[in-house]
Amino acid sequence: MVDAPVGGPLPTVANGAGQAVLDRPGAGRTDAASPRPGAAGGGSAPAAALLEVEGLVCRYDQIPVLHGVSLRVMPGELVAMVGANGAGKSTLLRTIAGLMTPVAGTIRFAGESIGGEPAHRVLPRGISYVPEGRRLFPKLTVRENLELGAYACPDRQAVEQRLAAMMELFPILRERADQTAETMSGGEQQMCAIARGLMSAPRLLLIDELSLGLMPAMVEKVLAAVVAVRQAGTTVVLVEQMVQEALEIADRGYVLQVGRVVAEGAARDLLAAPEVRRAYLGL
Ligand SMILES: Nc1ncnc2c1ncn2[C@@H]1O[C@H](COP(=O)(O)OP(=O)(O)OP(=O)(O)O)[C@@H](O)[C@H]1O
Ligand SMILES: [Mg+2]
Repeated sequence: MVDAPVGGPLPTVANGAGQAVLDRPGAGRTDAASPRPGAAGGGSAPAAALLEVEGLVCRYDQIPVLHGVSLRVMPGELVAMVGANGAGKSTLLRTIAGLMTPVAGTIRFAGESIGGEPAHRVLPRGISYVPEGRRLFPKLTVRENLELGAYACPDRQAVEQRLAAMMELFPILRERADQTAETMSGGEQQMCAIARGLMSAPRLLLIDELSLGLMPAMVEKVLAAVVAVRQAGTTVVLVEQMVQEALEIADRGYVLQVGRVVAEGAARDLLAAPEVRRAYLGL
C-alpha cells in the first residue's frame, strides 16, 4: 500500500509529546486504575506515561529488526505508529505484548518494568493486543469470539456486562452475535477483533494494521470505532500503513523506518511535516 522510499533518515519534527492529550475532554470511562490523575489535568507536575519504551532492540535469529526504539504513551492518548512494510511495527507491538523477548531496552507499563514478560503475564496487567490479520476463530460465533477475549475473567456477570458494552459500542456485533466469524465482512471482523481485545478490559489496546484488506469506506468505519474506543477511556496504540488516515485520528505519532523512530510529534505536526508528506503521503 504505502511503499515509502527508504532513503536517508527523516529529521525528527517538532516533538509535541504530552501536548495533544491535555486538551482532550475526559469523556466516558476514565482510566480508573491510573494512579496519576495529573496526566489529564494540565497542571505543572509532569504527567506520568502509561507506557514507556526505551532503547528497544529486537532480532529474529541474529538479524536485528529494531535498533533502539523509544516511545511514550500517556494515559488516554491515541498514538499512531506508522511506517512502510518491514519497518518493524508489528515486531514492536508483539514485543510490548510479550510475544517476543527483546534483546535490549526496557518496557515500563503503569510504572512497572514488564520487558521480557510473557504474554500471559502482560495481558492481566492491562495490555491487550489485536494482531495483524485479526486472527478470529472463523468457526466460532461472534459472541464466542468475544467471550474468549475475557477468558481470564472468572466473573460471569462481568463478562456479560462487557459483552453488552461491546454490543453497545459496535451495534453491528449485536446483529451478528450468533453468526460465525467467517461469515462476516472484513470490516465487521475487524470490529469483532477490536471488541475481543477490549473484552479483557485493558488499559492499553495495541492494534496492528486496522485497515488491512478493507475497502476505503470500511476503513473509515473502523477508524471511527477506534476513536469511540479511545473516547470510552481506553488508551490506544494504532499501527498503520495508512499514514494519513492514522495520523488524522491520533493525538501523536511515531514514524518508524527500518527499525528506527525517524520522526515523532503531535499528529497534526507530522501531517504537516514536508519530510513525512513526501515520504509517506506521496505529496
Ligand atoms: N518471524 C520472522 N522471522 C524473521 N524475520 C522476520 C519475522 N517477522 C518479521 N521479520 C522481519 O522483520 C522486519 C520487520 O518486520 P515487521 O513485521 O515487524 O514489520 P512491519 O512494519 O510490521 O511490516 P508490515 O507493514 O509489512 O506489516 C522485516 O524485515 C521482516 O522481514
Ligand atoms: Mg506488520
